[in-house]
Order: sequence, then C-alpha cells, then structure tokens
Amino acid sequence: MKIYNKNSYTLEDIDDNSIEALITDPPYGISYQNHYWDKDLPKKEIWENSFKKLKHGGFGLVFSSVRLMHRLMVDLEDSGFIIKDVLFWSYLNGMPKSRNVGLLIDKELNVESEKVGEYKYVQGYKENGSDSYKVEKKHKLSPSSKLGKKYDGAGLGIKPAYEPIILIQKPLENKLNIAQNITKHGTGALNFEDTRIPYADEDGKVGHNPHPKGRIPANIIRTENQNDGYDKFFLVPKVRQSKDDFNFHPTLKPVSLMHHLIKLISFEKQTVLDPFMGSGSTGVGCLDLNRKFIGYELEETYFNIAKQRIENKKNDLEYSLFKTYRKAPNKQSQPTAYAAGEFGR
Ligand SMILES: C[S@@+](CC[C@H](N)C(=O)[O-])C[C@H]1O[C@@H](n2cnc3c(N)ncnc32)[C@H](O)[C@@H]1O
Repeated sequence: MKIYNKNSYTLEDIDDNSIEALITDPPYGISYQNHYWDKDLPKKEIWENSFKKLKHGGFGLVFSSVRLMHRLMVDLEDSGFIIKDVLFWSYLNGMPKSRNVGLLIDKELNVESEKVGEYKYVQGYKENGSDSYKVEKKHKLSPSSKLGKKYDGAGLGIKPAYEPIILIQKPLENKLNIAQNITKHGTGALNFEDTRIPYADEDGKVGHNPHPKGRIPANIIRTENQNDGYDKFFLVPKVRQSKDDFNFHPTLKPVSLMHHLIKLISFEKQTVLDPFMGSGSTGVGCLDLNRKFIGYELEETYFNIAKQRIENKKNDLEYSLFKTYRKAPNKQSQPTAYAAGEFGR
C-alpha cells in the first residue's frame, strides 16, 4: 500500500510497465457542487503517464460523466489506450438538475408568481461536505402568467440514472499473442471467474451447459432489481453520506462497486493504481481483495480520510485473521471470536 498526498500527474514514484490495473474516478469537469477540483477534466498528461506505468495488456476502468465522457475517451485513446467498452453503473437516487420553466417565464415577464406554501431547501448532504452547503426556507411558487401556467412543471434536464465507466486496455506487447503476453506480464485477460453473476435460482440458469458460478459479468451494473427472475447484472446503490460518518467526500464511491471493478480487471497480489483516490475507496477495496495499491490525492483533508479508512480496514482485517487463527483452549470447540474491546492494541 503506497499512498501519496500530492499531484499525481507525473507518477514519478512508479516504475514504467510495473502496474497491472488502473482504476480511478477522476474529476468529471462539471464543477460538481462547486468543487474547484472538479472544474476541468484532468490534463491528458496523466493518461499518457498512466499508459507508461501500466504493463502491456493491462486494463483500466475510468469513471466519467455523461456530458464529458467523449472528451475523456479521446484523451485516453490519444494516450495510446484501446477503448474496449463502456460500463454503465445504473442507480436510482441521482438528482435531476432542473427548474420549473413556468416560473422562469413569470420572471421573464416580470409577473409575480403565486406563493402556495413553504419548503426547506437543502443543498449538499451536510456541512463541510461541500463549499456550497446551505439550508434555507423557501416559498413554494406556482406560475401566474398565462404562458407560465402553460409551461408549469416543464423542465430542463432529465434525472441522471447512470455513470459511465470507460474500460480501456494498453495494447499487448508487440509481436506477443495473448497467451504469451499473460505468461510474460500477467496481464491481458479479464477476471470472469471472480465476477460472474450468480443465478438467483435453478430456473434462472441459461444455455445448455450453464456455468456453475453464473453468468459472465455484463456492461450494465445496476441498482434496481427489476423482478426479472434473477439479477443479470450487479446490484449496488449509490452511497448516501450519513451525518455521523467521518468521510464527507462528496463523490464517494461504494466499496462494493469498487470490489466488482477491482476483481474484473485484476488478479490477487497484483497492483492497482488510482491517481485520483479521493477518500480511498479503491484502496479499501484492494485491501479486502488481496491486491496491492498505489493511490494519489491532492487535497490534504481527503488524503487524511483515505489514510484513516485504509488504517481502519487494515486493523479490521488483522482482527478477523486473529479471530480465524486463534484456537480456543478446548480442542473440540471452534475458533473463538473476541469482541472488539478485548483485542487490546
Ligand atoms: C471524484 S474524486 C474521487 C472520489 C473517490 N472515488 C472516493 O470514493 O472517495 C476525485 C479526487 O481527485 C482529486 N484530484 C484532483 N486533481 C488531482 C491531481 N492532479 N492529483 C491528485 N489528486 C487530484 C480531488 O481532490 C478529488 O478528491
């Protein structure tokens, strides 16, 4: 585990051709909740350098936004990567960015909209979670003008229900075939055996010889069970920040999602790089899955959260190993579990 509190662009701490997988959630370039670090897409330099650090045949998964993924894809391709696929992480709790057009028309016509009630307007999840966090009472309005009434409820943007994750690959080493490349570098294949989607029941099995572990993972990862017999994809909800949690990173990714992505493009003991680690979700996932991790984060506050989460995870893992291997005095009984307080360190 190596984590750095600095700009990742040069990746100078890493040897060329030494990393098996790149998994990262970079700035989307959409100024999310007015965060300065999300103002622009990363410079192409980071992708060129990531390309150099990855082994031949190594895969990458790069989160992106619907509005700007095309620009990011061009940068990735121009840096030498092959675009292999785009995974859709689908969820239901995205917030639409919209306005009531009827009220905008009233304003334009200088007509006062009718006050029909009050509501509490909250921006951001909680204090410190965003520079623009605020709570205020606002009037509920209804359009008054004739044209405003006609467009009452019309909007400007539909509800976001997925985030794209771009699957990329550094080409195999020149003149090597896939088997030769894997033999030499350990990279070039996706890890299906660890990411198959289990059948929900016997009836859900497909084909003449269904694989005992389930279906090959799909390029849609969704959060909504659509009652179609079995889950063909991979269900994981967006993270809701809770008031008491010390992690207030505004774009926190669920560790369960990171598990799936880490397993998909790497194998045990390999190294995963995240040049924009934020609060360290990729690193925490790597610890769970016996992968090495190298992470960068520019902002000290986020870096400290990542460090804390990684430390906590290490302690948890050491503690559960302790539970597994510590034998109870009586030979017949099972390994003893100790309550957290009893394990004094
Ligand atoms: C979208 S967030 C990642 C959030 C992460 N997935 C998580 O679960 O916490 C992107 C992060 O990249 C960081 N960042 C932006 N530019 C950077 C740079 N040049 N070097 C290192 N980190 C950078 C930002 O501070 C931000 O925390």
